Amino acid sequence: MSATGVGNHDIKDISLAPQGKRRIEWAEREMPVLRLIREKFAKEKPLAGIRLIACAHVTTETANLVRTLQAGGAESLLIASNPLSTQDDVAASLVADWGVPVFAIKGESTETYNRHVRLALDFSPQIIIDDGSDVVATLLKERKNQLSDIVGTTEETTTGIVRLKAMESSGVLSFPAIAVNNAQTKHLFDNRYGTGQSTLDGIIRATNILLAGRAVVVVGYGWCGKGVAMRARGMGANVIVTEINPIKAVEAAMDGFLVMPMAQAAPLGDIFITVTGNRHVVDEKHFSAMKDGAIVCNSGHFDLELNLEVLRENSHPPVTLRPFVEEYRLRESGRSVIVLAEGRLINLAAAEGHPASVMDMSFANQALSAEFLVKRRGELSPGVHLLPAEVDTEIAALKLQALGIGIDSLTSEQLEYLSSWESGT
Ligand SMILES: NC(=O)c1ccc[n+]([C@@H]2O[C@H](COP(=O)([O-])OP(=O)(O)OC[C@H]3O[C@@H](n4cnc5c(N)ncnc54)[C@H](O)[C@@H]3O)[C@@H](O)[C@H]2O)c1
Repeated sequence: MSATGVGNHDIKDISLAPQGKRRIEWAEREMPVLRLIREKFAKEKPLAGIRLIACAHVTTETANLVRTLQAGGAESLLIASNPLSTQDDVAASLVADWGVPVFAIKGESTETYNRHVRLALDFSPQIIIDDGSDVVATLLKERKNQLSDIVGTTEETTTGIVRLKAMESSGVLSFPAIAVNNAQTKHLFDNRYGTGQSTLDGIIRATNILLAGRAVVVVGYGWCGKGVAMRARGMGANVIVTEINPIKAVEAAMDGFLVMPMAQAAPLGDIFITVTGNRHVVDEKHFSAMKDGAIVCNSGHFDLELNLEVLRENSHPPVTLRPFVEEYRLRESGRSVIVLAEGRLINLAAAEGHPASVMDMSFANQALSAEFLVKRRGELSPGVHLLPAEVDTEIAALKLQALGIGIDSLTSEQLEYLSSWESGT
C-alpha cells in the first residue's frame, strides 16, 4: 500500500515487464518532442509535490507520458480509459521499472473499470488527466468533498470535451479544464492521421481482409472520419461517407467521396466504421438491411455508436470466429453481421492505438497542460480553456525540428506588408 492508502497495482502479470519496457523504449524513439519536455521537466520539476492521476489508454506512448510527468516531480497513478485498450506488458513495466501504481487489465469488466476509477479518486488527486471524462464525471457526482483539492483537469478526446462543455453549461464544473483535444497539434494529427491509420490497422489485424475493392462506409466526417476515409481510399476501398452536418457532408463530397444517408448506405457497405461520438448511429433498421457478412466496427470513444443491444435481441447467440471477431446471425433474415471488438475502439482493442510519432504531439500537449495548470494555479477561471496558441506553435516547431524539416520565415518586407492596409490593387 502507498502512503495514500491506495493499493499498489491491479495488473494482469508483472512478469510481462521486460517486454513492456522494450516496447516503451521503442515508442520513445518516435517521441522526440515529449523527450525534450521530459529533459526540461527533470531539471525544473514543475510538478513537484503534485498528486496526479491519468486515465488513459495504457499503451507504450502513455507510458512515456507518465515517465515525463514523473520526471516533472508529480506523484502519478494510472488507470485505463477503456476496458479493452490496456497493453498488459506496458502496465507491468510501469509498475516494475518506474514504480507507477497502475490499475488496468486488458478485458477488465465494466465493474472493475469503475472500481479503478474510484480507486484513482481515493489517491486524492490535484490534477486529473482524463480521456472521455469518466473520472471527472465520477468526481462531480460522488466526491464533492474532494473538489477543493483539484487544481484542474486536462482532457484528451472530443467526446470528453463535449461532456466537459455540458458540465460547464450546467454550472457544475468548478475548476479549470484544458481541452487538449482542441489544440491544433492534437486533433489535426492524432484524430486524423492517427485514427486514420490505426483504425484500418485494427480492422486488418482482427480480420486479415483485403480492403481493395470493398465498399467502406465511414459514419461521421469529423477529424477522425476524414483520416479513416482518406486512408481507406488509399488502400483501394470505395468509400461512402454518411453525415448529419451539411458542411461536413459538402466537404466529404468535394473530397471525392460518395455521400448518402445511412439507410441508403446500409445495403451497399462491406465494412462500416463509426467515428461520430454519437449514440446508435448504426441501428436496427440498418443492421437488417446489410449484406450477409457485413463487418461493423467503431473507432469513436464509447461503445454506444453501434446499437448492439438491439442486434443481440434480434440475433442468435453470437459465435466468436477469431479474437475480436463475432458473428451475429439475424433470426429473421438468416443473414449475418460481423461485429469487431464488441463495438469498442477497434484501433486500441485489436491493434496498438495511434503510432508514437503522432502521440508525441498529443502528449506534449498533455504534459505542458499539466505544467500550465500548476503555473497558473488560482488564476484560471472554472470552465474549459485552450492552451495558449504559442504553445501549440512551439510544439509544431519542435516536431518539425525533430523531423529534420526546415521552413521559411517572414522577411521584414512581408511582415510590414501583412500588418498594413494601404497597399492593394
Ligand atoms: N479511436 C481513437 O483513437 C480516437 C481518437 C480521437 C478521437 N476519438 C473519438 O472519435 C469520435 C469522433 O471524434 P472527432 O474528433 O472526429 O469528432 P468530430 O466532432 O470532429 O466529428 C464527429 C462527426 O460525426 C458527425 N456525426 C454525428 N452524429 C452523426 C450521425 N448520426 N451520423 C453521421 N455522422 C454523425 C458530426 O457531424 C461530426 O462531423 C469521438 O468519440 C472521439 O472522442 C477516437
